[in-house]
Amino acid sequence: MDKALGIFGAMRAATPLFLLLATPALAQPPTQVDLIPLPVSLQYEEGVCTLICPWQLEVDEAASKELFDLLHAELIPLQPAQQVQCILPIRIGFRLMDVDTLMPSEGYRLTIRPNEIEVMAPSSVGLFRGSRTLVQLLEQGRSPGALPCLTIIDHPRFPWRGMHLDVCRHFFQAGFVKKYIDLQARYKMNTFHWHLTEDQGWRIEIKKHPKLTEVGAWRSGSQIGPYAAQTFDNERYGGFYTQDEIREVVAHAARRHVTIVPEIEMPGHAMAALASYPHLGCTGGPYEVQRGWGVFDDVFCAGNDSVFTFLEDVLTEVMDLFPGEYIHIGGDECPKTRWKSCPKCQARMKAEGLKDEHELQSYFIRRIERFVNSKGRKIIGWDEILEGGLAPNAAVMSWRGTEGGIAAARAGHHAVMSPGSHCYFDHYQGDPANERVAIGGYTTVQKVYGYEPIPAELKPGEQRYILGAQGNVWTEYILSPEHVEYMAVPRMLALAEVLWTPEEKRDEADFLRRLEAEFPRLDDLDVHASRAVYEVRINPSQGSAPGRIRIEMVSPLQRPITYSIIHVPGTSTYTGPFEIDRERVIGAGLTEHEGGEHQHRTIRSFHFNMATARPITLSSPPHERYSGYGAFTLVDGVRGGPARGGNEWLAWKNDVTITVDLGEEKDITRIGIGALGDTHSWIHLPREVVFSTSSDGTLFTTVGTAQPKSGDSGKVELVSSTRTKARYVRAEVRSAGAIPDGLPGAGHPAWLFLDEVEVR
Ligand code: ACM
Ligand code: ZN
Repeated sequence: MDKALGIFGAMRAATPLFLLLATPALAQPPTQVDLIPLPVSLQYEEGVCTLICPWQLEVDEAASKELFDLLHAELIPLQPAQQVQCILPIRIGFRLMDVDTLMPSEGYRLTIRPNEIEVMAPSSVGLFRGSRTLVQLLEQGRSPGALPCLTIIDHPRFPWRGMHLDVCRHFFQAGFVKKYIDLQARYKMNTFHWHLTEDQGWRIEIKKHPKLTEVGAWRSGSQIGPYAAQTFDNERYGGFYTQDEIREVVAHAARRHVTIVPEIEMPGHAMAALASYPHLGCTGGPYEVQRGWGVFDDVFCAGNDSVFTFLEDVLTEVMDLFPGEYIHIGGDECPKTRWKSCPKCQARMKAEGLKDEHELQSYFIRRIERFVNSKGRKIIGWDEILEGGLAPNAAVMSWRGTEGGIAAARAGHHAVMSPGSHCYFDHYQGDPANERVAIGGYTTVQKVYGYEPIPAELKPGEQRYILGAQGNVWTEYILSPEHVEYMAVPRMLALAEVLWTPEEKRDEADFLRRLEAEFPRLDDLDVHASRAVYEVRINPSQGSAPGRIRIEMVSPLQRPITYSIIHVPGTSTYTGPFEIDRERVIGAGLTEHEGGEHQHRTIRSFHFNMATARPITLSSPPHERYSGYGAFTLVDGVRGGPARGGNEWLAWKNDVTITVDLGEEKDITRIGIGALGDTHSWIHLPREVVFSTSSDGTLFTTVGTAQPKSGDSGKVELVSSTRTKARYVRAEVRSAGAIPDGLPGAGHPAWLFLDEVEVR
């Protein structure tokens, strides 16, 4: 059988060795095939291709021998277990078409006929993309031993279909990086952004500056658990890739037509480099490879020419290793603190006529760009490289929203969209109560699927500057390869379809159906995908009367939901919203397959106090990014957890006054509100909460105040005891204001995060 699958070169040795010994049993093919990403066009034809005859693989001589070897290795295991002898083998041909064929870049045509499968493309990259479709098809045809005849014509919507991996906060061996690239290739993604240097570790061997990995690749401990806990271990941690390993990964990616974009961070996120070579910093150190996450004031000195010589040395070796067009130079989160007090940096500003430190950052990036351009390559950087003026040929990676990408495109620069809202796959994807600690956020696979990379603000002429988009996997809270897979998959699949498939063909329900079919194949590939899509959301809203909560259960899947309520006997099938008016713990779930056994359960506790589900007003609406279920979020019976995913918290960047109508005069002994402190994420506890009460809703009397204690962090209840009779309760919450120097986001307004109002 092995021999049958092995002809490299067009039409060479095509004499079939297979004589009719048996008529192949007519296997029934699947009536439809499920591909991710969905192709541009798929037409079913009359007839069936029986896969149980021996296969004969032919790859055009003009395509590479490497493609033949790769396909040979991948297709053998996909042959149906049962084979019979036939007059003719199944010919699986990969053929290059005329280069002037009207087919977009990376495009291909795949045809399945009764005795033949053919992939045609004007280039090897097109043949490879087509081969990914064929792999998915053969997986589906394997068990019935047949596929329907069909024709697929396909090409991508965007040229940059990327995934990023941070190997600095946590290190992942080259073997896993290859697996990650294989996964990208499976879904026709073509760009791997390898984040190689950071404050917490330098991960690429540089021959000319060996201390970068002797010193910079190792730290004396790591931050563990949620950021707010500020807990560390003391275990030496690190690792790096030798140049030989890098070359191997680059070659592995190249065979799969995946381009690697290496990232060397500058001028910020440079502590590992500074610890290795302290003269590269403004103060001269000493510096340490950082144990904790965040943003650090010590950065490359912009006034010291030896910094540029050093970076040119590094980039020279990097460009020798990575053949791609783009080199990522970071550029994000560079505090200007050291530059402001560094004589060398200040002298540089004066000599170059730079009006502020943002222009100094711009000088830094432009100078590096000139060097990279002189080697025939281009730079791309995070959207901060727009500040102080964009380097003339630079592309922008838009992460702090879409504004950076919009500004770049309007200025005629290329942009890759990677906004935190949709493309940060380090965010939660399910209810934080069911997930391992993540950095925050809440980005479901459905949300990723709904992402449109072309910002609506762009005019048609500007849209062409959007190269595509990219999913980012930062690994502060991701310690193992399995966990990387869990965070990346299936969100990567959703993004792959957004970037490949024509926008008008996007259909969430159909994608989720295909995703469900893909899960078992991911299991076979030993990929640890998140099943959060099966999670039932238990959503509260205002009930039919004050004090009553309406419970709605939603799932993106068309599947019966069963639920039970603790202390209420029995299990019910959810048929529609119902109401509760007292403490309840509700568990809801659905099965992974119709009639299947694997149940995914979500549990949600509802707590009642005098304020729960009572009319509530806010002096100003919450920020649109954290608007939960609106004002009701603060009286919905659900207490926000420290993870702040989902709809448990409301957030503002200003003071807010909250008023609750208890419905009638009540004896009150205690008023409180929950707040969150997480300075890493720019979330600060309020300075103060002033509680007051009223009988008429107009005239309020202060009954107490509450302040966080110094050092308070995480979820904090701000509470005041009182002894009052009142119908209206008010909390005036004073936000922390501008973030103080020395903390992440210094100078920006702090986020104010609030949740449940408690009146007892
Ligand atoms: C970034 O997330 N700091 C680019
Ligand atoms: Zn300096």
